[in-house]
Amino acid sequence: MDFSSSRILAQGVFVLLVLSSVAEGTEPRTILVGDSEGWRAGTNYTQWAIQNSPFHINDTLVFKYPPPGNSTVTQSVYLLPDLWSYITCEFRGAKVLGNASEGRDEGFKVALTELKSYYFASAEGNSYDCLAGLTKFTAVPSS
Ligand SMILES: *[C@@H]1O[C@H](CO)[C@@H](O)[C@H](O)[C@H]1NC(C)=O
Ligand SMILES: *[C@@H]1O[C@H](CO)[C@@H](O)[C@H](O)[C@H]1NC(C)=O
Ligand SMILES: *[C@@H]1O[C@H](CO)[C@@H](O)[C@H](O)[C@H]1NC(C)=O
Ligand SMILES: *[C@@H]1O[C@H](CO)[C@@H](O)[C@H](O)[C@H]1NC(C)=O
Repeated sequence: MDFSSSRILAQGVFVLLVLSSVAEGTEPRTILVGDSEGWRAGTNYTQWAIQNSPFHINDTLVFKYPPPGNSTVTQSVYLLPDLWSYITCEFRGAKVLGNASEGRDEGFKVALTELKSYYFASAEGNSYDCLAGLTKFTAVPSS
């Protein structure tokens, strides 16, 4: 490839990058937490959150998990009020976003409507997973 065609190619790549970042900024996404695996006990969601970042205002997270039964660990989703409660898994001031049965079928949606840190965690098993750093993540939408 000669110099001028590689320069044209580089410009084309640049234009694509700009277009995709513009599209990302204007089009809210609907994102399934944990992809096809959904919201599961004993799972590290930090990597998932990094891969799906950046989150943007008005993006919607979908939490899906099976209802209580014999074969699965009961699951739930809480929104913790701050970083400290997230780290220490102090659920007393937390808000239940989805109880054990609300993740069934299509799950439930949480819209990231504010420019703030959203701290999500499961409280099941006496917060065992949360304390182990699992089945929790932080989403910080940007504008
Ligand atoms: C987010 O959605 C609300 C309600 O639909 C809308 O008023 C607001 O402009 C949106 N914000 C952004 C940054 O798109
Ligand atoms: C759980 O297992 C018991 C005994 O195997 C069975 O009778 C019951 O229907 C099961 N419950 C659910 C919710 O699957
Ligand atoms: C979960 O919440 C729904 C709707 O508020 C309620 O009908 C249901 O009884 C709750 N289930 C559990 C297991 O707490
Ligand atoms: C979860 O994954 C993140 C990112 O890979 C890593 O930094 C962290 O140590 C992991 N946490 C646990 C409890 O394995």
